[in-house]
Amino acid sequence: MATARSEIPSTRMTHRRMTELDLGAVLDIETAAYMFPWSLGIFRDCLRVGYTCRVLCAADAIGGYGIMSMGAGEAHVLNVCVRADLRGQGTGRRLIGWLLDEARNSGHGWAFLEVRPSNRPAILLYESLGFAAVGIRHGYYQAVGGREDAIVYRLDLDAWGEARDRALTGGRRER
Ligand SMILES: CC(C)(COP(=O)(O)OP(=O)(O)OC[C@H]1O[C@@H](n2cnc3c(N)ncnc32)[C@H](O)[C@@H]1OP(=O)(O)O)[C@@H](O)C(=O)NCCC(=O)NCCS
Repeated sequence: MATARSEIPSTRMTHRRMTELDLGAVLDIETAAYMFPWSLGIFRDCLRVGYTCRVLCAADAIGGYGIMSMGAGEAHVLNVCVRADLRGQGTGRRLIGWLLDEARNSGHGWAFLEVRPSNRPAILLYESLGFAAVGIRHGYYQAVGGREDAIVYRLDLDAWGEARDRALTGGRRER
């Protein structure tokens, strides 16, 4: 079934810290988005260990979330997910842009993430932000009938300039 597109422009969305109270809404988005979703326990652990956990505020509801760990000069984007009705209008670009800004502003030089080779929208998003593929983790993901590799992407946060402006001001398409 097609999902109705939201009328909220991505440039009007804000973000804030995720709390335990958000986890019901977060899990709803997660289970709708992924065939092999994270469990409630994984999200709880991310909060408990102090990972950077942010939710996207769209009107009075949560429109997505991003989770990132930081340490030893590197940020690792662990999950970025946008509610289906908010996709395709610059929301994901802004969400990951906020995370990368936090990483750079707290002195981290590199951002890493993994993505399934089958996840074309995510690959195009990351490459449009300047991420470059630097390796493969074989059999990293659970998949139907076996395992799927992960492509490892890396971004130089010192060079996160022009792409940043586009990410945080709405992207190259009219939004
Ligand atoms: C990946 C995801 C976060 C993208 O969010 P989004 O809000 O739709 O992305 P945006 O509208 O900001 O698009 C940014 C760029 O991503 C790419 N992109 C996004 N959706 C795309 C699609 N369906 N087809 C092709 N490219 C797409 C484009 O390069 C786009 O730039 P453009 O609009 O200037 O052409 C979203 O699809 C999602 O939540 N997917 C489910 C969870 C997931 O797979 N997360 C990533 C795990 S690694």
